[in-house]
This record gives sequence, structure tokens and C-alpha cells, in this order.
Amino acid sequence: MPNRELHENLPWVEKYRPQNLDQVYGQQETIQTIRKFAQDGRIPHLLFYGPPGSGKTSTIIALAREIYGKNYRNMVLELNASDDRGIDIVRDQIKNFASTRQIFSSGFKLVILDEADAMTNTAQNALRRIIEKYTKNTRFCILANYAHKINPALMSRCTRFRFSPLAISAIEERVDTVIKEEKLKIEKPAEKCLVALSKGDMRKALNVLQACAAALDKPEDTISVDMIYECVGAPRPKSIEVILNAIMERDWTDSYSVMNKIRKTEGLALIDLIEGFMDILAKYELKPLTRIKMIQGLGDIEYGISKGGSDKIQSTAVIGCIKNALENEA
Ligand SMILES: Nc1ncnc2c1ncn2[C@@H]1O[C@H](COP(=O)(O)OP(=O)(O)O)[C@@H](O)[C@H]1O
Ligand SMILES: [Mg+2]
Repeated sequence: MPNRELHENLPWVEKYRPQNLDQVYGQQETIQTIRKFAQDGRIPHLLFYGPPGSGKTSTIIALAREIYGKNYRNMVLELNASDDRGIDIVRDQIKNFASTRQIFSSGFKLVILDEADAMTNTAQNALRRIIEKYTKNTRFCILANYAHKINPALMSRCTRFRFSPLAISAIEERVDTVIKEEKLKIEKPAEKCLVALSKGDMRKALNVLQACAAALDKPEDTISVDMIYECVGAPRPKSIEVILNAIMERDWTDSYSVMNKIRKTEGLALIDLIEGFMDILAKYELKPLTRIKMIQGLGDIEYGISKGGSDKIQSTAVIGCIKNALENEA
């Protein structure tokens, strides 16, 4: 059965995409409200914003399925603002779509515009005019990661919904289901670790799980904590601790070589290392001023990295900043 095979080869984020609004976890209030809009037949233009993997695309597609059923393909246009080359193409596609006569059903057509915050300001202004032009028979749903990247004029034409990162329990429940469906073996701590590292991003959780499953030598092998860390590319807490302790207790040369060695073998980015330090610093007993100095220093370095500072200089600065702060303790 070729169809079945196709299904088997799907990425899990697609295979396990919610089929209806009831299967969307977490975003209860949003879902209640938009369902009400749909029942009353009075859908406004919508803006969904919030972090990746929180269910924005899934929610609007599920809503559209509820509204249109079999007519989905005639009534819904899905566009990706960041894929398509420029607003002209978007405009043409919307024009073609919105101006074809509806043969099968009445009511509004729906345009879903994903990743709209990737559009330039000019393009967003053009989009606002397009929305106005077709408001008579078309509703727009704009999806974005950041509300502040959406032009205010465009924003004011939409009813806004914020999607929050998903709760640990929601991710855990979904991951559990997938583990059962895929007949995976995974250590309990590995599952906990996967859920924690995905930080509310369901797409990340499912992608990492699938990558780990694919990396098993034999399908009946068990997924371990180490495999999870490897797939996420996140530093292991143990390594972070070893590096921090070396910097605190040993001289410059040793500190530098411990840090470099672990970073090389585990492929750690300096930025992840700094985040890791921040996470575990709470466990260390330090004078308040020492802690403040350390955190301020690490914060500055993090900013320096984001501005494109050299890795070598910034990593040396990390050691310097921690050692400098510790002078207080003496
Ligand atoms: N709230 C949710 N409930 C259930 N599954 C979700 C949820 N959010 C994301 N997912 C899963 O993650 C994948 C990506 O979700 P998507 O809706 O595209 O997120 P976003 O558009 O917010 O980045 C989906 O295919 C689905 O499997
Ligand atoms: Mg999306």
C-alpha cells in the first residue's frame, strides 16, 4: 500500500499534527474564543503570535477544517510569507484566490499567512492594503513569532491571540503518545530530559525524538539520556559543572584547556556554556557581590557574542570574569 508507506515516512511533526481543535494542547482560551467566532459565523481577521512549536499553524488549520470540512481546498489558501519571493507574488496568489467564484459553498474564504514577521515593513503595508481590498469575502489569519515585528497598522486590523510556550505536562502527554504509537523504548530520565530541553516547543520535542529513534542501531534499542543531549546539541549539566569547577579552582592554563577540550569533544557553543553556567550558579555558595559580578560579566559576554565577538576572546573573557568575581571571596 503506497499510501501507508507515504504516511510512515512523514516527519512526526506532520504525522502527529492535531487533526482537530480538541487535539490542540494548552491554548484553551484562544480555542474557545475562535470556536465561538466560527459558530457565530463572524470571524475577524486574526493574528496568532507566540514562540515556535506552540501550535499556531495547527490551530488555524484545525479551525479551518472545522469550518470548511470537505471544502477546505477550495476555501483556504496557505501561504508562507518567508518562502515566497516578495509581496507581489503573495498579492497575485491572494488575488487569484479571493476573486474566483465560490461554487461549492458560501461564506468567507480564508487566507493563512505564515511567518508574516519575516516580511519587510513595506511588504506588510502592502499586505494591509490587500486585506482591506478583499475583506468583503475573505478573512486573513496572520501567524508570527513576534508581535513587535508586525507593523501596528496591520496589527490593528486583526484580533490578536498570544500563544504561550506549552506546559511541560502537555509536551509530556504528547510525547508519551508518540512513544507508544511508534513502539519506542526510552529510559524514563531520557524522556524527562527531552521534555525539559524542548522548553515548551512541541515541534522540537517531536523532532528530537524522531532523530533519536533514527539514530538507534536497532529499532528495539533503548533511547538514553546521552542520546537526547546529543540530538538537541545541548551541553550536559555534568560537563558544565566540570568546566565551571575548573575555572573556579585551577589556574588559567588548566581552566582554559579543560574548557577547550570539553567544548571540542561535545561541540559546545560558548553561548550554551554561558547559559549552562547561569543555570547551575544558583547551586554554588557565593557572596552576593561575587554572584552579581559574575552574572553581570557573563551577561556582557553573552551580549558580545550576539554582536559577533570573537570566540577565542570571548571564551577567555569568561574565565577572566569568573576569576575576577571570585577575588571577592578571598
Ligand atoms: N498546542 C499543540 N498541541 C499539540 N501539538 C502541537 C501543539 N503545538 C505544536 N504541536 C506539534 O508541533 C508541530 C508544529 O506545530 P505548529 O502548529 O506548526 O507550531 P507553530 O506554528 O506555533 O510553530 C505540530 O505538527 C504538532 O505536531
Ligand atoms: Mg507555524
